[in-house]
Amino acid sequence: MKKCDYLVIGSGIAGLSFAIKIAQRFPQRKVIIITKTVEEECNTKYAQGGIAVVIDKIEDSFEKHIQDTLICGDGLCDSDVVKMVVSQGPERLQELMNWGAQFDLTANGTLDLGKEGGHSNNRVVHHKDQTGYEIEKAIVAEAHRQPNIEFYEYHFALDLVTKDNCCLGAKVLNELTNEIITIQSTYTLLATGGIGQVYGHTTNPTVATGDGIAMAKRANAIIADMEFIQFHPTALYHKDVNPTFLISEAVRGFGAVLRTKDGRRFMTEYDDRADLASRDIVSQSIEQELKKSGDECVYLDCTQLDIKAFKNHFPMIYDRCKALSIPVETQWIPVIPAQHYLCGGIVVNTNGQTSVENLFACGECSRTGLHGANRLASNSLLEAIVYSNNIYTYLSQKKKINPKTAVVNHHEFLPKPGTMNQKYLASIRDHLQKIMQQNAGIIRNDVDLLDSQMELTYWELELQLLEENFALNKAFCELKNMITVGLLIVDHSLKRTENRGGFVKNKKTTTLPL
Ligand code: FAD
Ligand code: SIN
Repeated sequence: MKKCDYLVIGSGIAGLSFAIKIAQRFPQRKVIIITKTVEEECNTKYAQGGIAVVIDKIEDSFEKHIQDTLICGDGLCDSDVVKMVVSQGPERLQELMNWGAQFDLTANGTLDLGKEGGHSNNRVVHHKDQTGYEIEKAIVAEAHRQPNIEFYEYHFALDLVTKDNCCLGAKVLNELTNEIITIQSTYTLLATGGIGQVYGHTTNPTVATGDGIAMAKRANAIIADMEFIQFHPTALYHKDVNPTFLISEAVRGFGAVLRTKDGRRFMTEYDDRADLASRDIVSQSIEQELKKSGDECVYLDCTQLDIKAFKNHFPMIYDRCKALSIPVETQWIPVIPAQHYLCGGIVVNTNGQTSVENLFACGECSRTGLHGANRLASNSLLEAIVYSNNIYTYLSQKKKINPKTAVVNHHEFLPKPGTMNQKYLASIRDHLQKIMQQNAGIIRNDVDLLDSQMELTYWELELQLLEENFALNKAFCELKNMITVGLLIVDHSLKRTENRGGFVKNKKTTTLPL
């Protein structure tokens, strides 16, 4: 058994920015960070566009950023949360820079501000098209500079340990030794990121299996808005590649336009903002176009852009396309929408507290009320740094208390003899991804959702039987969590009767020939 004052589960922007601050404030207290693979592998690392922050106080204003966020969330954002998050942006960004993250500058030495869908102004602070990588590198290094932080890679959190609705730490699988240990903590932070791998097409890396949300559900924490899945309109169309490579929305902010195969600029027919409408609208429009045409993808046309400037701003995208024999100066990039972000999650208040005592959640696994029915582009990194700061501020004011002793039922951990059939687990995972892609995608209907609910419930029971008879392993635990998350998405989609933002449900239309 290990003991600490603060247990942080996840090493993306949410977990690390909290860990750094609390470790610096209380050098005598111990912080443990666990992460399921290597320390830098997470959604944060892949963020491209940047962080939305009001920097230009002449053309832009907090009020405009607030309005853009509210419009994008389609009436379901918590406006007090939106105001609080937007107004903290500049201060939190400065902290990232103090920790060593560098962002692109203009010739005058001011921050270069990009534009993305739904933003009425240029306000996206970025590091070329690799903003997340730059941030992750800086915060991993800063975390390692704190002597009271212990970092454990390949430590997979299996479940929270709770007693009387209070979190006492977590049960963790050390994949390096194959041991299950308990980490006892006074306070626990879930910073476990996204759920993308529940879907067949996603921009999220393979670690994004929704573990934190599933663990929180098992601990009876309140979870909301799981139906609001954000699909990014422009993932590179490249069959059978997981995850799919993102073509940043900032490319459209730079002037690229969407076209059908025959060259029509369809977005002008759907929204006055055309290619820079919010993500939900662009993804839904593409879905409609593909349904009408029967084509497999639409195209992003960059051929009319200043290619030297394009290469300078988007070197990774340029190189990736080139490697796939798509010279962006002469050829359109084939794109389709892909799952990208979860707007809902574990419900937290403005201190990041969940409904379970001493359990906090931050970043993509949390549901703060900022995003409503659809997240405004580049508001996610911002939300994570603002909420990690709020949690830090709240916990800084708390007197030191000793952790309650984690009561652990040791017979649960007795090794069981059999080994699970990995091929079988992989086949269920594959099937789950297909079902979610087909039935819980951009446009859903109750008939297909009910079918999925039955199938997922069946697998849930099947996995319970496996768990009783075989030794645990990571693939099994991820699959169990993915099924839990899939069911949450399906159940919440069935309950929602009204279409909002990223959520569209139609009556099922027959696919049988008449
Ligand atoms: P993550 O960064 O995903 O970190 C989660 C951590 O939890 C990982 O370390 C993981 O290993 C760990 N973990 C998970 N489960 C367990 C477990 N069971 N046990 C132990 N550890 C666990 N947002 C923006 O604002 N701007 C952008 O430009 C932008 N671009 C994006 C581009 C891409 C391709 C993607 C995928 C996302 C993008 N986003 C962007 C969204 C944004 O990157 C994420 O929402 C944000 O980084 C999430 O941060 P996080 O700290 O909550 O989670
Ligand atoms: C992008 O660069 O298009 C992603 C931005 C985001 O998800 O906020």
